[in-house]
Amino acid sequence: MALDRYGRRIHYLRISLTDHCNLRCLYCMPDDITFRPNAELMQDDEILRLVRIFARLGFDKFRLTGGEPTVRANVVELVRGIAQTPGVRTLSMTSNGVLFSRLAKDLAEAGLQRVNFSLDTLNPEKFKRLTRRGKLEDVWSGIQAAEQTGLTPIKINAVVVRNHNEQDVVDLARLTLERPWQVRFIEMMPFAGATEFQRMQGVTAGEIKAWIEDAFGPLEILNDGKLDGEAVLYRLPGAKGTVGLIATVTRPFCANCTRARLTADGRLRLCLLREKEVDLLTPLRQGVSDLALREIIVNAIWEKPWGHRLAEGEIPLNRTMSEIGG
Ligand code: 5AD
Ligand code: SF4
Repeated sequence: MALDRYGRRIHYLRISLTDHCNLRCLYCMPDDITFRPNAELMQDDEILRLVRIFARLGFDKFRLTGGEPTVRANVVELVRGIAQTPGVRTLSMTSNGVLFSRLAKDLAEAGLQRVNFSLDTLNPEKFKRLTRRGKLEDVWSGIQAAEQTGLTPIKINAVVVRNHNEQDVVDLARLTLERPWQVRFIEMMPFAGATEFQRMQGVTAGEIKAWIEDAFGPLEILNDGKLDGEAVLYRLPGAKGTVGLIATVTRPFCANCTRARLTADGRLRLCLLREKEVDLLTPLRQGVSDLALREIIVNAIWEKPWGHRLAEGEIPLNRTMSEIGG
């Protein structure tokens, strides 16, 4: 079991399969971003070896992220390998959905269980503006494909950006009236790559909640307000699905944190919003034993930081969001 010095049991690993992406969301990366050469990324066998070590340490929940995980070559076989690793209990993915109409069936058959789709607007023009190149209809058919193949419950993540998609909050929330989906609104966080934009155009969960209530009436809070992952869940009157608010910036949930992250270049990132990382790929490539790698991981987790320092002006600048995977 992996414990940190605050007594938190860390058993959820998010793995960024690649920093590459087929979109360029305004709040995530600059348009002219240069991605890492593939040789710097963890290779399939390296990922599988690390997953085995993490699973033996008691990690049972795994999520594949990016960049965009589906642009990685061989992603279906990689999913199969991870899903079959003893100890892996849940395996999910966060995706922009662009390629999902093609991949949903194969991924589900390989052992993927669920997907969170990133979708910030239901308006095709706005979608193109926010992602700088995406076609909303591709994402929409990707989501349908995921639902039909049983990659459920469908969750939608929307980052809310001032002067871009405030109005879309209501349309996205409305999706939950007729569908058993969870639509989650995320406060924008600052990283490298789009820092000014992220700092200036953020919207708080409180504002988002007020807009939703203006449109639909009072939200019913679920689970007594206890967090579902990182979200506080609500239900619109009479809705089939739920609405989640993720207040990473204004109400951090560090006390309940169970996660660690593996960046695409094989660093163990201990907190999304802190720069501290421990290199696993270099020792792995130098030929260290599983036991030695396990030791490095256990020690790194012990040192997992508590809390972000955004309020004090400390912004993590050593990575873009697309290298950490959210
Ligand atoms: N702040 C908050 N969420 C972000 N995402 C990407 N960049 C940011 C940011 N700066 C979201 C994506 C995706 C998830 C992995 O993180 O939209 O849903
Ligand atoms: Fe790609 Fe997701 Fe970043 Fe958008 S937010 S550019 S979809 S990694």
